[in-house]
Amino acid sequence: MAIIRLKPSDSGPRANKLVIRAATSQDLPAIFEIERLAFAHPWSFDSFVRELSLPFSLTLAAFVGPSARATLAGYLCRWLVADECHILNVAVHPERRREGIAERLMGEAVVEAIAKKAVIATLEVRRSNLAARGLYRKFQFEERRLRRNYYGPGEDAIVMELKL
Ligand SMILES: CC(C)(COP(=O)(O)OP(=O)(O)OC[C@H]1O[C@@H](n2cnc3c(N)ncnc32)[C@H](O)[C@@H]1OP(=O)(O)O)[C@@H](O)C(=O)NCCC(=O)NCCS
Repeated sequence: MAIIRLKPSDSGPRANKLVIRAATSQDLPAIFEIERLAFAHPWSFDSFVRELSLPFSLTLAAFVGPSARATLAGYLCRWLVADECHILNVAVHPERRREGIAERLMGEAVVEAIAKKAVIATLEVRRSNLAARGLYRKFQFEERRLRRNYYGPGEDAIVMELKL
């Protein structure tokens, strides 16, 4: 059983007007912009379009700033299939990192998965991605196995799991 302690969104040094909601097609240009900044091999724009059309897929979008001028700071994409929540993608704008935004996105995804009776959350992460591995460990994801060269020569993936 996972014990998730989420930071309150409206207190502490990271206090920020952060709003998280399901992404719509209107959010996709801003999501794609962050995707291109975040990854050497970004998803295509059409990949995000496709995710929005899949009934078991959810893209969460995090906005910061006063409501009228809120800007997209990060997003998370998950699948919920049977009793498994699979995190496919999470990224935060380079100028908004270390503000707790990914933590809030992950928190939303985990809480929603528990509410929908998922019993496990899974993901793959590059072995070299220490920031992401730190994020997932904070949620008590456990590193289960290695997929050698999963992302290309010398780029192993670690499969991580969290019992919900
Ligand atoms: C990984 C990523 C999503 C983290 O987003 P973020 O909003 O900066 O993360 P948070 O501020 O919520 O940090 C939560 C925790 O993650 C870990 N973490 C985040 N960035 C880290 C870094 N640069 N180094 C080490 N640990 C880090 C820490 O444990 C942190 O908790 P702490 O601040 O209390 O130490 C962001 O760095 C990113 O977009 N990277 C590029 C895309 C990517 O690699 N996505 C993951 C694909 S699997």
